[in-house]
Amino acid sequence: MRSVYFEHSGPGRRPFDGGLLWPAPPGRAARKPQEKMLSDFDHDRCAVLIGQADGLLITAGAGMGVDSGLPDFRGREGFWRAYPALGRARIDFMDIATPQAFRDQPALAWGFYGHRLALYRRVTPHEGFRLLREIAAALEHGAFVFTSNVDGHFQKAGFAADRVHECHGSIHHLQCLDCCTDEYWSADAFIPQVDERRCLLTGELPRCPHCGGLARPNVLMFGDWEWLSGRSNRQAAALRRWLNTVRRPVVIEIGAGTAVPTVRRFGERLGVPLIRINVAEPAVARAQDIGVAAGARDTLRGIHAALRAQGLLPGASP
Ligand SMILES: NC(=O)c1ccc[n+]([C@@H]2O[C@H](COP(=O)([O-])OP(=O)(O)OC[C@H]3O[C@@H](n4cnc5c(N)ncnc54)[C@H](O)[C@@H]3O)[C@@H](O)[C@H]2O)c1
Ligand SMILES: [Zn+2]
Repeated sequence: MRSVYFEHSGPGRRPFDGGLLWPAPPGRAARKPQEKMLSDFDHDRCAVLIGQADGLLITAGAGMGVDSGLPDFRGREGFWRAYPALGRARIDFMDIATPQAFRDQPALAWGFYGHRLALYRRVTPHEGFRLLREIAAALEHGAFVFTSNVDGHFQKAGFAADRVHECHGSIHHLQCLDCCTDEYWSADAFIPQVDERRCLLTGELPRCPHCGGLARPNVLMFGDWEWLSGRSNRQAAALRRWLNTVRRPVVIEIGAGTAVPTVRRFGERLGVPLIRINVAEPAVARAQDIGVAAGARDTLRGIHAALRAQGLLPGASP
């Protein structure tokens, strides 16, 4: 990828005085192009930042999946909208996503995780994933993904498995609830039957092949001292190696919430340029970073188009 010169207050930039720069003409028809100009400018700035980088670190939270049709769990109300049966029982995310819930109410805990497993298997990742791959392919060191999502959608969208760190594990893998062994195994053979209205697993519970006890997802839950993190630790080591080879990484953070700030903190602590894409919580602390208050897919389309227009990606601008 060709690098472009970028200076935050330099002459190469279009004038921008903080956002409300165009007079507001009356009527709805006039408002649209005004919004478009503002977001095009954001996309251009993001493209310039990416154009200077030799590696793309994609950090993603639940908001990355929203444009694919997956729910995020924003706040209690958001969680209960996605799981009304849990709402009726006043059970929130931090109650059900625990090893204790598997001990006390296995059919309910597996109703929740079994529904998610089936959903993540069924749903196709949105176009933004492909656009990210194309952007990464133009950079010398490509991309690495750091995500708290357990849905496996980066791999499903074609990212190499050895370029993904799932810091909270993967729902597509199982482990023994009692940790009779350090092994984890693929969930592929488990086809959950769930009564969605009651959020209950109606089919057979998955079993540990070693002791015959209950199996649970190999994901980090709340109050969870028993998560077997070996798989995730190996991914973390691969990410560290990749970061050691990249000289000019840029972070593109997408749909990472503030309630469980693991993803945000990881990207911020690297101290490298950061692009934050988030519909509702886009604020960034440092002047050199960019916060885009819009959805993942539309923003990635805009950035991809801007990279093409700047000659940093092959092909004509769509
Ligand atoms: N798909 C999954 O695997 C999945 C789904 C839900 C929650 N979780 C887990 O729940 C925990 C909390 O998750 P979290 O902090 O990532 O999410 P969260 O639900 O707390 O927050 C989601 C964030 O995404 C933003 N967002 C919503 N729609 C968006 C869109 N279309 N484009 C861009 N941004 C958008 C929201 O403003 C919010 O900041 C994590 O451990 C996560 O792994 C995983
Ligand atoms: Zn066991």
